[in-house]
Amino acid sequence: MRKPYVYVTRKLPEETLDALSQAAHIKMWDSEDQAVPRDVLVKEAAEADALLVMLSDKIDEEILSLPFLKVVANVAVGYDNIDLHAAKKHGVTITNTPDVLTDTTADLVFALILASARRIVEAAEYVKSGKWNSWSPLLLAGTDVHHKRIGIVGMGRIGEAVAKRARGFDMEVLYHNRTRKLESEKNLGVIHAEFDELIEKADFVVNLAPLTPETQGMFGRDEFEKMKQSAIFINAGRGASVDETALVEALQNKQIAGAGLDVYEKEPVDSSHVLLSMPNVTALPHIGSSSVETRLAMAALAAANIEAVLEGKHAKTPVI
Ligand code: DGY
Repeated sequence: MRKPYVYVTRKLPEETLDALSQAAHIKMWDSEDQAVPRDVLVKEAAEADALLVMLSDKIDEEILSLPFLKVVANVAVGYDNIDLHAAKKHGVTITNTPDVLTDTTADLVFALILASARRIVEAAEYVKSGKWNSWSPLLLAGTDVHHKRIGIVGMGRIGEAVAKRARGFDMEVLYHNRTRKLESEKNLGVIHAEFDELIEKADFVVNLAPLTPETQGMFGRDEFEKMKQSAIFINAGRGASVDETALVEALQNKQIAGAGLDVYEKEPVDSSHVLLSMPNVTALPHIGSSSVETRLAMAALAAANIEAVLEGKHAKTPVI
């Protein structure tokens, strides 16, 4: 009998695929940092029973309608790169990697908050470039994080983990979500707010919402105008939830004080993007879940999902 064929779209450490390789023939795109070209992906997918993919791979109907494909395992908790409607239509299981990345991503969100508020990147560059000639009382003075008010838009598992960290900094935590989280309100002391109220009142507006038709462009000109002039906007959800032109204007016109960004409308973000030249923007290359431990755990979970489906079992963390 033909061994199932699994195509992996980025070079992963062999040990994450050890168990799966007993059950399947595996081929990997041979680059850690370059995405697989579309024509190669389509050609490989045409033979594949399963794909192990990255959030940068667009998995659309052309791929999902291919004859042998049974499962696509995304190495991310978000899955806006995959056409779920087409997956359902063609009976392809889609899986993601929740839970294993929650704390790592929350740590990064908090790092962005601290870095943006306390001008950490700017300050580190200042020292390293030899500009530090004398100490002065307001040298690179930032703004406090402790005892401020954070507003979390998208209160899923990562949002809750950010809220926990914020409570440790004695912050007041507002959140906005489709559904109210009464347990979190009780256990974490977080306060539900309508979206407009949250963006008007928060010192740190943090977007963690998944990208859907409803959240696409939800932070635009009107929303930035409503924020405090001292507000810092943090985006670790998806770039397309933000109108970047409106964000640039808000920063240029000092409608808000700064931004910490891990995600962008188009990734990788163009090196000439005006956001990258602004001193009050802390910009990271979508590394929310990027610790070695967590990225290995995500890859292993994706592989375990594939193994389960190929064995005719339920996926461990199915999306559909
Ligand atoms: C995800 O998994 O969706 C995150 O964006 C990764 O950092």
